[in-house]
Amino acid sequence: MLRAASLPMLDPATGLSPAEQIAAHYRGAVASGTLAPGDRLPPIRAVAEALGLTRAVVQSAYRQLVEDKVVRATVGRGTEVLGTAGAAPVRAPIARVALQAMHVLERAPCQPQADPSDELIADFGSLAPDPATMPVDEIADALRSALREDGAQLLGYGDPAGHEGLRAALAARHVDRGLGDRSRVLVTSGAQQGIDLVLRSLTDPGDAVAVALPTYPQLFGALAAHDLQLVPVPMRGAALDLDALREVLPRVRLVYVMPTFHNPTGLTMDLPARRALMDALGDSDVWLCEDEVECELRIDGEDLPTLQSLDVRDRTVVVRSFSKGLFPGVRLGWIEAAPEWIAPMAALKRFADIECSPLLQAALLRLIDSGILDRNLATLRDQLREKHRVMQAALQRWMPESVRWTTPDGGLSMWVELPSHVDARELARAAARNGVIATPGDIFLPRPHSSNGLRLALSRVSLAAIDAGVRVLAEHVREATSPSAPIRSVPLLL
Ligand SMILES: Cc1ncc(COP(=O)(O)O)c(C=O)c1O
Repeated sequence: MLRAASLPMLDPATGLSPAEQIAAHYRGAVASGTLAPGDRLPPIRAVAEALGLTRAVVQSAYRQLVEDKVVRATVGRGTEVLGTAGAAPVRAPIARVALQAMHVLERAPCQPQADPSDELIADFGSLAPDPATMPVDEIADALRSALREDGAQLLGYGDPAGHEGLRAALAARHVDRGLGDRSRVLVTSGAQQGIDLVLRSLTDPGDAVAVALPTYPQLFGALAAHDLQLVPVPMRGAALDLDALREVLPRVRLVYVMPTFHNPTGLTMDLPARRALMDALGDSDVWLCEDEVECELRIDGEDLPTLQSLDVRDRTVVVRSFSKGLFPGVRLGWIEAAPEWIAPMAALKRFADIECSPLLQAALLRLIDSGILDRNLATLRDQLREKHRVMQAALQRWMPESVRWTTPDGGLSMWVELPSHVDARELARAAARNGVIATPGDIFLPRPHSSNGLRLALSRVSLAAIDAGVRVLAEHVREATSPSAPIRSVPLLL
């Protein structure tokens, strides 16, 4: 398999042809010392296959590099990097993974925003809980009581795997498999660190990771930061396209999915889809990362078994968080996995940040034990149920027939699919100018990609603003689908 860093990332926005981009990539790698004299470029066939190009395109890039005396092509030895006449290779000042992470950040498509001087009609953009729902006084009390009772201990170092009582409480609440076994729990700094630890402990740089698209946008940077190659797998409604997954399975090390209240679509994989996914994984040794950050926000129906509980191989790692059901500033989440997989993640965490704050963990345990977390979750669910109901009614009322949308059983967001020729980014930009914030679907796809989907988040928008916000969006859809609007073509999901 090719290392991700040994492959150029093609970007039409550069204005360069694919051959020019390939040549520029390897020229840069030689200049920075990433490729040293004597190193080989990947075979032409492999690069062509990985980038979906013809061999002739890659051949012409390599020919250019030979002409420029950057490499030499020898029968039987492949394409070899040449020395630079005694000059020491120039080393990049910072690590390649840092460059890649910065590259992703710099190029990430942004969220269209309203002009601060304009009236904001509805904010469907933010996925963070509404500050008005945060139990600030109860959190202050929990912190005070933790300090009063165990202050001296909590202000020192604690257990790197997490506060013992909190891990036991989390195991009792959530762990489907080996219920109550705290050795299956590692406390992390939010689900984001959970994802980071999964990638760092279960993959090697250069590995490929299958990702159901569209997906959580911070994953793109996380993959780049670990030198991992994203292998896209389309979604079919709430489920993965299993034929596509089976095809890529032999070359991927890990699969990342959000089976419950998927971000951005809000969809949940039903039990047959969960079983079918596990069947597709069969007895392979491919890891599964199950992101369950919104799973406590169910407003309808029954909780479903986690993929982990269905995984007879016990190679599924669940990442969870307090960010959506409580507040993201606590920066606490946790991983659930078999103890033998928790151990390497705990070791990596120890050398990354030693541990999560013992004081915050102890306060959180008090919020759990006193029932405040559950009460807060119940309130959040009631509010979300109302918001989803009003949102569905508003979409039904205002949207043209050509628009489709999801009807989630919970979670903070839903997905609206516009007619296939409408570019959601252009529409979201125009809506933002009229005081309605929505997130265009391209944010949830690797660059460069356009989308006809919009994520509408319900966490921060007030109940009263939903109808007016949807009405504005619908007006923009009508404008974009009027016979005089330019015709473009963008991919469909639903
Ligand atoms: C799907 C998904 N995974 C992980 C995270 C990261 O959550 P945390 O704040 O716990 O790091 C988020 C945050 O929005 C998310 O939507």
